[in-house]
Amino acid sequence: MTDESDNNSSSPPNELPSEFSFPRHAKYFEMMSGCLPSMLEEYDSIRMSILFFSLSGMDLLNTLDRCQGKDKIIDWIYSTMLTDSKALKTGFRGFNIGSEFSPTGCLEYCLFDTGHLAMTYTAIASLLILGDDLSRIDRECIAKTIGNLQTAEGSFLSCLEGGECDMRYIYCACCVCYILNDWRFVDKKRITDFIRQSVSFDFGIGQGPCLEGHGGSTFCGLASLALMGELDQCIGGKVKERIKKWCVFRQVTGFHGRPNKRVDTCYSFWIGGALKLLDANNLTSQHDLIEYLFSTENSITGGFSKWPDHSTDPLHSYMAISGLSLLGYPGVKPVDVRLNISSSAVERLKVLHLHWLNIV
Ligand code: FPP
Ligand code: ZN
Repeated sequence: MTDESDNNSSSPPNELPSEFSFPRHAKYFEMMSGCLPSMLEEYDSIRMSILFFSLSGMDLLNTLDRCQGKDKIIDWIYSTMLTDSKALKTGFRGFNIGSEFSPTGCLEYCLFDTGHLAMTYTAIASLLILGDDLSRIDRECIAKTIGNLQTAEGSFLSCLEGGECDMRYIYCACCVCYILNDWRFVDKKRITDFIRQSVSFDFGIGQGPCLEGHGGSTFCGLASLALMGELDQCIGGKVKERIKKWCVFRQVTGFHGRPNKRVDTCYSFWIGGALKLLDANNLTSQHDLIEYLFSTENSITGGFSKWPDHSTDPLHSYMAISGLSLLGYPGVKPVDVRLNISSSAVERLKVLHLHWLNIV
């Protein structure tokens, strides 16, 4: 039983720090959007996703207007775009080859070069966040490429040759089709069948059929269904209740991604988002989650780490902020859970869709 005097002591166990260091986190994202520090050089080939985390982080913290050189960033994103007439490789790379390549080297490289679905999703989402109208994109060619990446089982390859193939790329494909408002080249029925078959024996959703349920793939599966407008038809009744239960049981203090695993900051969004899609956020403890996030924030350099006292990185920093947004945390803009970008960016997207349909 709690003694009344506990509540009056200087640091009672349940009291949270008064606020997150949002100005520091905004600065952290601003820095990461411009230059990758040497300690993160391993992320060089996926710079596009680092840029996405940084821009969307600034957007959710409402500091995007302070971002320097938006036009240059937009040009850089477009410089990573690949198109091919057969619509097999069209999309975005995670990085720019750069002008230091000799003409021969560049040609040889381009022969085997291809867009990557996760980079295409993060590139297009970043353009949208920056207020670009996507006019330099060959929308049909990207939509056709995505169709060509779909497998007979319903999943998607990340890229045509040598690419991985699992629930993550279903999610990326659905995000891109939703943003481009073009589902003509994908088979939605095969996608929904694949997701339904990936619901594991314990009702977590795995990366594919017969694979272990996982917080990341559970989010990807549910969000893909929501983007297709199929969530309620595909997941209902007892199955919905059991998936909810699986997600609720992922809370220890913060959330973990699988039973018996360590709590990790990124699941604030992956599990928090899955719960939001199932209208079940109210079944978990916001206090405990926020307390965990306080323990992984670096209030000096900005940014969040996956675990307390570990180094920060852009993915976990962004997932902490978007997780807080799902909770309606003061000072963080609302996030559209399906696309994991701000609701205001999605409002701009709706106007683009009308424009593409010649309605405005
Ligand atoms: C956990 O991975 C997370 C996932 C499996 C979801 C990943 C989603 C995508 C790649 C879709 C694209 C989204 C973005 C934002 C680029 P993990 O390997 O860290 O899992 P672990 O906690 O089990 O190690
Ligand atoms: Zn993580």
